[in-house]
Amino acid sequence: MAFLATSQAKINPFLAVGPRRADGYHELVTVFHAVDLREDVHVAFAADGIDRLMFVGPIDTTALDTGHDNLVWRAVEAVAARGELSRRQALDITVTKRIPIQGGMAGGSADAAATLVAANDAFGTGLGRTELLGIAAELGSDVPFCLVGGTALGTGRGECLEPVDAPPLWWVIVTAPAGLSTPAVYATFDELHRVGAGERAAMVDPGRTDADAMISALRAGDPQAIAALLRNDLQAAAILLAPHLADTLAAGRDAGALGGVVSGSGPSVALLCADEAHARLVAGRMLNGGHSAIAARGGLGPQA
Ligand code: C5P
Repeated sequence: MAFLATSQAKINPFLAVGPRRADGYHELVTVFHAVDLREDVHVAFAADGIDRLMFVGPIDTTALDTGHDNLVWRAVEAVAARGELSRRQALDITVTKRIPIQGGMAGGSADAAATLVAANDAFGTGLGRTELLGIAAELGSDVPFCLVGGTALGTGRGECLEPVDAPPLWWVIVTAPAGLSTPAVYATFDELHRVGAGERAAMVDPGRTDADAMISALRAGDPQAIAALLRNDLQAAAILLAPHLADTLAAGRDAGALGGVVSGSGPSVALLCADEAHARLVAGRMLNGGHSAIAARGGLGPQA
């Protein structure tokens, strides 16, 4: 018996970052938007009683740790711990990876989200959506969004979600040869803004008005308006750590994208396009310029 679940990458068309909180996380007002690069998680019971986790391509997965610290196993344990009738059996898990590693696109979080669903099915735990979202928030700030997909406003540290009903969009995702560490990007953000714990505490709602404008543009499905409102407060920190990102964003503009933004903590870059044909044209131009680029639809739910 095998159980399969899938989860998509995310980008943040809007990411306003507030102060670092006492727990070390930053208060966010962000818009999450799923893009159609998918992780497939395949879960089966291990006949020999030994846990096994394997990552397979199309991207290079050799650097990934498959030990029990991996979010995939933490998701399995969290589901098993919730099930009164379920029994934690040894699992054979294969993850097909398409989301760049350390790319600011929630690849590890997507693995965790899909594993929650597959493990819930495998163990017959019967956890509902609310319970799964609660476990997801414990596993990581982006994991709840990876469960729901589509487009959503994220607040708190990113785990509090309000779905946004918006039509799909077309993007070109440009990936970088080396990843960036999310904590390192946030630490650089703090240095740039000289933000210590508790400082700027009055700024409880960073960028909320601009987020509302972005949500209106997304609901209207107006790519030109969305392009004008793209914002990522972590972008300057990401560019400081990976200066080539400034060239990538300029190349995206030269290739005719409506707008571009670093995705989350980077280094992946999302270029907004008018429609599919435009995205394929921009992706081709970026590829010709030596970038690693792929056209992808955004805003779909997990099962689309
Ligand atoms: O929640 P997650 O484990 O994915 O976060 C990874 C790291 O990113 C955190 O340890 C923290 O350094 C940083 N982070 C943050 N504020 C957030 C989300 C993440 O500072 N809202």
